[in-house]
Amino acid sequence: MISQASHVWPDHADWRSGTRLASSLVRLREIGSVAASSRHLARQMAMQVDYQQSGLIVELGPGLGAITREVYKRVANRKQLLLIEVGGAFIPELKRQFHGVTVVHDSAEWLLKHVRGRRVAAVVSSLPLRSLPNKVVHRIGVALSQVMDAQTRYIQFTYDLRPTESAYFTHMALEKQYSRIVWRNLPPARVDTFCLATEPPTDHPEKTLLQTSAGS
Ligand SMILES: C[S@@+](CC[C@H](N)C(=O)[O-])C[C@H]1O[C@@H](n2cnc3c(N)ncnc32)[C@H](O)[C@@H]1O
Repeated sequence: MISQASHVWPDHADWRSGTRLASSLVRLREIGSVAASSRHLARQMAMQVDYQQSGLIVELGPGLGAITREVYKRVANRKQLLLIEVGGAFIPELKRQFHGVTVVHDSAEWLLKHVRGRRVAAVVSSLPLRSLPNKVVHRIGVALSQVMDAQTRYIQFTYDLRPTESAYFTHMALEKQYSRIVWRNLPPARVDTFCLATEPPTDHPEKTLLQTSAGS
């Protein structure tokens, strides 16, 4: 599968070509990884979704569909799946692979518009929050806070394996429910699951704010 759309990742020719170098750097910043997620990481991510909950399962940054494939296998109703991907080159491949799923070519910042008032059961994210511009990360955080309710799960991975990291969605109080390192990925990654915090953050901000850097 990766080979079918691997041209989407900037290649060596891009680095040699002055005209394409700038756009390659922008794409690398957006993609935030050198390769698609392994099956092991994808399974860990997909297993964190509660498939019994009604509502949309939104995936942010599906790329070539490594994680989508695992979610797609497990979901009973494919209409529940909404994929939001900013990289236009990924879109045809996602549409080809995932029948019955809504594939949107847009930035996760505009999530609210695509949810169209429906309940969101889970958000699965592999967005490279550590490399995206701060204003984009802020807007994504705002959009998440607008679509999540008390039962919504927010699932992400990060290549930063340290238990404490800097906050990215600082205005939003989230509570970590689950955390596990997946070693069989290049590079190893940590999967974290969050829900909205029941109490406002107090003296332990690292426990109550979303502290991770998803996707890279
Ligand atoms: C680290 S890759 C993950 C790809 C795939 N989910 C995987 O795990 O192999 C990050 C993906 O997020 C996408 N992305 C980056 N910024 C985005 C944004 N603002 N909105 C939606 N997708 C975005 C990139 O185009 C890329 O497909």
